[in-house]
Amino acid sequence: MSQLTITGGRALRGEVTVQGAKNSVLPILAATLLARGPVELLGCPRLRDVDASVRILRHLGCDARWEGSSLVVDTAGLNRCEISDILMREMRSSAIFLGAILARCGQADLSYPGGCELGPRPIDLHLSGLRDLGAEIREEGGVLRCRAPRLMGRELILSMPSVGATENLMLAACGAEGTTVISNAAREPEIVDLQMFLNACGAKVQGAGSSSVTVEGGRTFHGCTYACMPDRIVASTYLCALASAGGSVRLLGARERHLATVTAALREAGCAIASDEGGLTAVCRQRLRAVRAVRTAPYPGFPTDAQAVLMAALLRSRGTTVFEENIFENRYRHVDELTRMGARIRVSGRTAVVTGVETLHGAPVRCTDLRGGAALCVAALGAEGETQVSEICHIDRGYEDIARDLRALGADIVRVETEER
Ligand code: UD1
Repeated sequence: MSQLTITGGRALRGEVTVQGAKNSVLPILAATLLARGPVELLGCPRLRDVDASVRILRHLGCDARWEGSSLVVDTAGLNRCEISDILMREMRSSAIFLGAILARCGQADLSYPGGCELGPRPIDLHLSGLRDLGAEIREEGGVLRCRAPRLMGRELILSMPSVGATENLMLAACGAEGTTVISNAAREPEIVDLQMFLNACGAKVQGAGSSSVTVEGGRTFHGCTYACMPDRIVASTYLCALASAGGSVRLLGARERHLATVTAALREAGCAIASDEGGLTAVCRQRLRAVRAVRTAPYPGFPTDAQAVLMAALLRSRGTTVFEENIFENRYRHVDELTRMGARIRVSGRTAVVTGVETLHGAPVRCTDLRGGAALCVAALGAEGETQVSEICHIDRGYEDIARDLRALGADIVRVETEER
């Protein structure tokens, strides 16, 4: 199994370009199904989840090929509207293909996306929104059989601002007749990116970034060339790496407005962070302070995806920080691994209380999920001695090459490959 070996206690110094956003590129790859011409995605991150989306597109008959760091998708050959169970299970966000296939083909057969390490991840909001647009959905032995010869636009009210449901319904609404308004929509920057991509292909979508998104359906979509947004969680991870190890780094392409709650917490902890057109520059020279309670919430609140990496950065802070996880049920699985490194964390239900310690020590630790795995790397950079991080396949789902990036920032980190990725 591949693993990362990290020797901590070395201040960071350097710069790195932040990769394209996983959570933006995955719905955009599903959205390519709507385009009747080739789509070129510039700076598409090479990730396990992107590979899984490419496999789904190819399975559907589409052509998807890499040209350097661009991914070119041509859906002209689309000849299927079902996705096999094996492909669906590879990636949690495969459900997003449902709205796109329905919009393009009027029918779709696919199974539920795989179970999740973060706890239950239902898609009931996706399904009820699609039904409201006129889709007939039956479940037969774990397979969702969806039929929608005609989708009709209307107002859809989400009972909670689900990111995936908002995206799925935006895609389906593009294939509906008339206007769809999605109320209580998620407001994440990735939704804005999806809107920009769809409009670049000829769609008329407005309001993304607010809680009401309007889609005028029935338009013809053409191909386009599009550069997706920089990954705000990867940028947050590298800022937390700096906070853990100390030093001075520059993150090219990072946009502070996308991660304002994360930078606010890090400033409160004692980091200096400056933002300009080209990215972010961050300096951290002293032991951090604990910060006010960190409560995860839908955007523009503190992102659940940055909870673990911030926690890792604060393990050696002065004082006590309370974390409250409000999005996913099972999002403290990294805690036991951090404890092996000498961290003091008490978990009770959705709350985790971190009491800063003077020193952390290296240890063999195991990734439990994507962001939890990144948090182990962040903690290891601030720990004395060597840490071996195993089961890094989780990290590969969302980071193009975390070892390459952290090395560019001056970290002592090597990836030991013992099998094919
Ligand atoms: C997306 C992100 C993920 C991030 C999450 C929250 C992608 C590919 N993934 O996931 O990295 O952590 O947003 O910011 O963009 N829910 C339901 N029923 C539904 C849908 C969701 O109950 O039909 C619940 C979920 O269980 C969860 C909450 O709503 O508790 C938020 O989920 P959602 O916003 O949908 O997250 P994802 O789109 O899965």
